[in-house]
Amino acid sequence: MFDYQKYRPFTPLALPDRQWPNKTLTQAPVWCSVDLRDGNQALINPMNVKQKMRLFDLLVELGFKEIEVGFPSASQPDFDFVRTLIDEDRVPSDVTLQVLTQARHDLIERTYLSLKGAKRAIVHVYNSTSTVQREQVFKMSPQGILDIAVQGAKWLREGAMRYPQTEWTFQYSPESFTGTDMDHAIEVCDAVVAEWQPEKGRKVIINLPATVEVSTPNVFADQIEYFCRHFNQRDHVQISLHTHNDRGCGVAAAELGLLAGADRIEGTLLGNGERTGNMDIVTMAMNLYSQGVDPKLDLSNIPNIIAVVEACTDIAIAPRHPWAGELVYTAFSGSHQDAIRKSMQYHKDHKQTHWNVAYLPIDPRDIGRRYEAVVRINSQSGKGGVALVLERDFNIELPKWMHAHLSRLVQADVEKTGEEISPHGIKGLYDTHFVSVSDDWKLRNYHLNHHEQQVSAQFRVGNSELKGQGAGALEALSGALKKSYNCELEIVQFDQHALGAGSDANAQACVEVRVNNEILCATAIAGDTSAAALQALLTAFSHSRSSTAQGVA
Ligand code: KIV
Ligand code: ZN
Repeated sequence: MFDYQKYRPFTPLALPDRQWPNKTLTQAPVWCSVDLRDGNQALINPMNVKQKMRLFDLLVELGFKEIEVGFPSASQPDFDFVRTLIDEDRVPSDVTLQVLTQARHDLIERTYLSLKGAKRAIVHVYNSTSTVQREQVFKMSPQGILDIAVQGAKWLREGAMRYPQTEWTFQYSPESFTGTDMDHAIEVCDAVVAEWQPEKGRKVIINLPATVEVSTPNVFADQIEYFCRHFNQRDHVQISLHTHNDRGCGVAAAELGLLAGADRIEGTLLGNGERTGNMDIVTMAMNLYSQGVDPKLDLSNIPNIIAVVEACTDIAIAPRHPWAGELVYTAFSGSHQDAIRKSMQYHKDHKQTHWNVAYLPIDPRDIGRRYEAVVRINSQSGKGGVALVLERDFNIELPKWMHAHLSRLVQADVEKTGEEISPHGIKGLYDTHFVSVSDDWKLRNYHLNHHEQQVSAQFRVGNSELKGQGAGALEALSGALKKSYNCELEIVQFDQHALGAGSDANAQACVEVRVNNEILCATAIAGDTSAAALQALLTAFSHSRSSTAQGVA
């Protein structure tokens, strides 16, 4: 059954002198949200009036100026919703409602009724023009399809005359435009527009839908450029695009379609809609934003957008959804984590005015996301990521040589559980293996006698006394431990630094020791650098003793 020969490639239009590939996007299109119509029609449970109102308010808040609010002639809840918006004066003065209707007289009449009293509105009429629908569904000639469209356009014009107090815009969609013979699509749209006479001041939108996405976005862009070149009233008509996402390129097609000459984009927040959805306006707006272009929508609170969309549609956003998904500002791989850490530091140190951070195409804070979510640790992470989590979440800075020790512990843990480890889990491993020490190994006090280059020292550790000598306090304690436990003890790495500024700042010491053949690490914080260093050594040493003896001998 899985036989590719069952399918034929889409035949692209010949447009060898296409101009769109030489263009770039430098401004936002006119946006029109169709969440409350196309998006709503595709829901298992269509939104109730309360949910529609919540989503409408969000769309207004985000800055949409044109909102398709329903198909009032086909659905009573949609009719009621449009009436509520108008009767309760819920539409801001700079927002235009849009409603959809088929090209049928009774439906157009009811559509106007639903909009009675609106200050401004777009009435959107459509009929399918695609070859497959014309031949197989309607069984009509091209002229028959054109007649339906023109008749619909006439009814729209006549209906508007009965409600002169409203400022009307007419919109026509040759549904399944991408599957329509281009010259036929142009002929139909020319005839519709001739009926509306935009040259006399009537606002007209021609909306070109990729009702089903049938080819690559460049083929769609060629269709749009061809349409714009050959369509009679290009200068008087706004060209709108309405792409769906069957091949996963709904946004790309809309973007290339804009390059090819379109002015306006219809889509939904986060891509809800029929089958794989409508083109996702959040993605496209964020694409513009990340290129330094004002998207003319306020997406600074993506978590709120997600919450409202999920509550209204009852569809969860995928964790890897572009720009918005839960995981899109999260790096799992160690090399990515390390690069992000260094790059963010560089950004800060160089006070860079433009965002240019490795692996993060935008600053997550711009859209209400937090740096805290940037790094998560699993078995694919490396040393840098683990250290970054301690630094970021607990303000614990470790010397580089300790990163590997900690990372090994984390790695063993995540391999054992097979799951990601939380920042608190990492801190727990750090505390258990590097910080915690039994009372028997706690430094109670110490006394140093400096004599020329030598120090002789007494240490009270737990309930015991130790004595030793050396070039410094650490060496004296190391000597004392070696003697008392009759073992090899070598300090391999040592690091200490003040925690904060001022004379009363605590000190942190980190030590790596080899006890016989075992390597151990520990860290300690104390009121002075010597006490911190001595405790770090005692802690590390105590861990070597934990399986052999308890406490100081
Ligand atoms: O996808 C589509 O073609 C539509 C039209 C009604 C514009 O939703
Ligand atoms: Zn659609």
